[in-house]
Amino acid sequence: MPLVVELKGTDLIVNDKENECSIRKLQAMSDVLMDPVFGKTEDEFNAYYMYRSVYQKNDIRFDITLLPSRLIGKEYTKTYGHYHPKPKHQDLAYPEVYQVLKGEAAFVLQNKTKGGGVEVILVKAKEKQVVLFPPNYGHVSINTGQGPLVLSNLVYDKFKSDYSDYKMNKGAAYYYTEDGLIQNTNYVIKSFETTDVYQINKKYGFFSDDLLNEFYKFPEKFEFLKDPDLLSK
Ligand SMILES: [Fe+2]
Repeated sequence: MPLVVELKGTDLIVNDKENECSIRKLQAMSDVLMDPVFGKTEDEFNAYYMYRSVYQKNDIRFDITLLPSRLIGKEYTKTYGHYHPKPKHQDLAYPEVYQVLKGEAAFVLQNKTKGGGVEVILVKAKEKQVVLFPPNYGHVSINTGQGPLVLSNLVYDKFKSDYSDYKMNKGAAYYYTEDGLIQNTNYVIKSFETTDVYQINKKYGFFSDDLLNEFYKFPEKFEFLKDPDLLSK
C-alpha cells in the first residue's frame, strides 16, 4: 500500500501523522435541511468531517469524508451538496469519483436542464464500491447505514465548488429521510431514476476497484478529472 490511512475515532492518521480535518457543524447545514428550524434550534453538533488532501499528485487530490450515523430531524446525515464549475471553453464540468470505504451510501446526483428543472439520479453504494459522479451533476452524499459512513474521493484540486444552488433551494432535489425519499418542492424535477454503480460507471467507460491504489500507481487513469472531455460518453 502506498499510504497507511487509519481512522481513529474522528482523527485521520496518515503514515503516523494526523491529517487536517475540517468539520461541518449542524448550524452550517440549516440552509440545506428539510427542517431548517431543527438546524437552528437543536444543540450544536458535528454533522460530518472532511479530511482533504490525504494524498495529492498532479493537481488531483485524494480526500476522505466521515459521516456519522444519525438523523438530522427526519433526514439521514448528508453532505451540504455542491456543483463543480466547467473548465474554460468546455461544456462539461469537472467530474469526481467516490469510493465507499466503510458503511452504506446513497448519492443524489442532479443535473440542471435548460428549462430550469433538474434531472435526478439516485445511486446506492455499498462498501468497496466506486462510483463516478458524471460531469455537470451536483451531488450530495448520504449515510443510509446503521454505522459510520467513510468515503474517499479523487477530484481535481484547482477549482472551487459552488454551493449556491443548494443553499438557494434548501438542499438537493430529494431529501433522504426515515420516511423514505421526499421531493424538495423548490425544484422542477424533469426526470428521476435510480441506478447502480455499475450502470453509471459503464455509461462513461469508467471502472475502478480501489481509488487510492490505482491513482498512486497509474495517476494518468484519472486525467479525466482535469479534462472532462477525456471521458467517453
Ligand atoms: Fe464534489
